[in-house]
Amino acid sequence: MSEPITIEFDLDGERRSERIAPNTVLLDLLRDRCGRLGVKASCERGVCGACTTLIDGAPVASCGVFAFSLDGASVETVEGQGSADDLGPVQRAFAECGGFQCGYCTPGMVMLTTALLREHPEPDDELIRSWISSNVCRCTGYQMISDSVRRAAELAREERG
Ligand code: FES
Ligand code: FES
Repeated sequence: MSEPITIEFDLDGERRSERIAPNTVLLDLLRDRCGRLGVKASCERGVCGACTTLIDGAPVASCGVFAFSLDGASVETVEGQGSADDLGPVQRAFAECGGFQCGYCTPGMVMLTTALLREHPEPDDELIRSWISSNVCRCTGYQMISDSVRRAAELAREERG
């Protein structure tokens, strides 16, 4: 069995150092060691997007990434977007527009939306549909999820002034 290794990375803006087995998957590191239970485990095969996090700003299925590859990277999770008492703008948009039913896909959708709006602050409907199609919502709330993304773009526009 290979020796544990130490990695350093930024998690939601805080530097962390973790000693891990070389075969540790990012999803497990985030949930089991870092308390990021908003990173949902579902298919664990890179298909559903429930575990989406941002690595150096890009949306990634954390169930398909070995944690050792994070060394030196910046990781963002839904917990870094705001808290129950102080929702971030994308979270607020989902709450306002009813962009969730059971909520299991929501953290992944929020992270996907965050990445989309950084890259395309004014997405049209086609672009929104194409981005959110990478993540599965079993409650089939795609219309309200699209509305939430549009509202998040509006809120971001208001913030920019
Ligand atoms: S749990 Fe990672 S993509 Fe489904
Ligand atoms: S709200 Fe239930 S899976 Fe999307």
